[in-house]
Amino acid sequence: MKRLDENNLAQVARIEKQSIDCPWSEEVLRKEINNPNFAVLEIDGRVIGYGSYYVTVDVANLNNVAIDEPFRGKGYSKKIMEYLVLKAKSDGLSSMTLEVASTNFIAIRLYESFGFTVEGRRKNYYQSGDDALIMWLRIS
Ligand SMILES: CC(C)(COP(=O)(O)OP(=O)(O)OC[C@H]1O[C@@H](n2cnc3c(N)ncnc32)[C@H](O)[C@@H]1OP(=O)(O)O)[C@@H](O)C(=O)NCCC(=O)NCCS
Repeated sequence: MKRLDENNLAQVARIEKQSIDCPWSEEVLRKEINNPNFAVLEIDGRVIGYGSYYVTVDVANLNNVAIDEPFRGKGYSKKIMEYLVLKAKSDGLSSMTLEVASTNFIAIRLYESFGFTVEGRRKNYYQSGDDALIMWLRIS
């Protein structure tokens, strides 16, 4: 797993734009360069996907996890999630939380497969009108 850097930034920004409803721009992503909690999965110099979290006190707040479309359904998001959960654990954090659209069944299944459970719901949270599910995972 690599960090975000000048060489993979443009590829990450392209995947972000293709995958996320309110994508982070390249300028916003640039601020994440060298963030140890921003994991980029590359194969032969090509970015396959990425995921990141920010820390508040002892909680890892997951930002987006996204996989480039041609590489979806091959288990790559699980590798990224495994890395991020282990990293949060080894940094002594107690839990991880995230928000996901209630209609994003693939992502919800991914998170459930790691043991995340739904502990809250924000009505009409997204521009689409979808609710946000708040999911938590205890990691220590
Ligand atoms: C959600 C996303 C990251 C999953 O990445 P992926 O690499 O395709 O997923 P994986 O191949 O690692 O599969 C992980 C789990 O997701 C679920 N999943 C993946 N593809 C699925 C599909 N077509 N249908 C149902 N569940 C699916 C399964 O639970 C799977 O685990 P399993 O194979 O053990 O059953 C990817 O679809 C994506 O980038 N989506 C757009 C961005 C997004 O919605 N991000 C999450 C919200 S921020």
